[in-house]
Amino acid sequence: MLFIGIDLGTSAVKLLLMDENGKIHKIVSKEYPISFPNPSWSEQNPNDWYEQSLKGMEELLLDCNKSEVAGISFGGQMHGLVVLDKNDQVIRPAILWNDGRSVKETNYLNEVIGKEKLSEYTANIAFAGFTAPKILWMKENEPENFAKIKKIMLPKDYLLYCFSGVHGSDYSDASGMLLLDVKNRCWSEQMLEICGISKQVLPKLFESYEVIGTIKPDVAQKLGISKEVKIIAGAGDNAAAAVGTGTVGDACNVSLGTSGTIFISSKTFLVDNYNALHSFDHADGYYHLMGCMLSAASCNKWWMEEILKTKEYEKEQLEITKLGENQVFYLPYLMGERSPHNDPFARAMFIGMTMDTTRSAMTQAVLEGVAFGLRDSLEVARNLGISIERTKICGGGAKSTLWRKMIANILNLKVDIIESEEGPGYGAAILAAVGCGVFPDVQTAAKNLVHVIDTIEPEKELVQKYEKCYQKFCQIYPTVKTLYQKLN
Ligand code: XUL
Repeated sequence: MLFIGIDLGTSAVKLLLMDENGKIHKIVSKEYPISFPNPSWSEQNPNDWYEQSLKGMEELLLDCNKSEVAGISFGGQMHGLVVLDKNDQVIRPAILWNDGRSVKETNYLNEVIGKEKLSEYTANIAFAGFTAPKILWMKENEPENFAKIKKIMLPKDYLLYCFSGVHGSDYSDASGMLLLDVKNRCWSEQMLEICGISKQVLPKLFESYEVIGTIKPDVAQKLGISKEVKIIAGAGDNAAAAVGTGTVGDACNVSLGTSGTIFISSKTFLVDNYNALHSFDHADGYYHLMGCMLSAASCNKWWMEEILKTKEYEKEQLEITKLGENQVFYLPYLMGERSPHNDPFARAMFIGMTMDTTRSAMTQAVLEGVAFGLRDSLEVARNLGISIERTKICGGGAKSTLWRKMIANILNLKVDIIESEEGPGYGAAILAAVGCGVFPDVQTAAKNLVHVIDTIEPEKELVQKYEKCYQKFCQIYPTVKTLYQKLN
């Protein structure tokens, strides 16, 4: 049997073909544009996602026995607002997870409705990237578009809809809308009322490993696969990545993608006192806490490609040898910051340069700044009494051995390297295999299919050096916080 995992990312869709033994047969990636019509806005065209997914699918299936394809599932960028009209046409471009336009609406939710109420209704507070503040933004700024809304969905659910005809979502992804009662896995009546929407416009909810239907006959025919192929609900990209790295039950995963996340899965429902971490449902049927940085590997990409004008990431990193001694610090807030600061006005900055500062010291500061940012979220979890000793790691940034070493020593965690770094795509394929009955549950599937091949141990001396650096890093943001607001 063959399973397809589709990871709808921010810069590209990645499709992965896996068999029932977890062996990856092929990976295909197709890019699409992202537009930033205003400095803090971030949009994409949902039709691009579907077109590129279909193209990718045709390529993926070129040399395989198509009759073996049994199930398809999805992982996708979270929180995006996709709206369809009565003819199922996209009303406006999707407003993405890293879009900061809804500051006013976020403040209204947190301050007028109140964080306590939001946390009671959904287990979370409002962040500008979440879906509910975007709905309020549309209601206020584009009333004619708002009036046309017949369906609201998340990015991967748009693909789910195009492939199956079912308007559905899963609990992990729906958690990021600020419309879901995460603890009880149902829509929050109070939040729907606050946003002025009815349950009819929202997707039907499923567990990530549940079959939502079969592939639409016309899509099956176009791709040359059986119309019996099952469509499995899938998950938000972080939950899918966690499944793909075996982060189920009580475990931790760090993802160094466009965004950076620390994902702490748990069988118990948990909320931190300040809601600094997101409290979401997991794709294994349980829960997780998550800290999300809006710019992680994207900081390094920006620094390398936009500023240094190079794509030789490895070569630049070769010159970095002295860890834990850098005098230069970098705040990684290119798109504002979500966890733990919740500050759309925050911006990136370098500090500490002198006449002898080198190019490599600045590259090093970028990589370290992202690791310090992840540590900020880890500290929130540690303060909750959660003890974490080790983590898995995935995402494009995880390919760098230097960055992995920094993560191990700055976070003081053992970092387990797994065979495949294809987090969300692999996780989605695993969810498809569970949905098709190959495994009884997600935990068993992950245990059987995900293998650790190496572990990076933190080094005592380096951990101590980095602890001192982290204490310095911690002082920078509070000092400049009010300045950011003035500059905006
Ligand atoms: C998670 C988040 C990001 C996106 C990126 O809360 O906003 O990780 O899912 O794809």
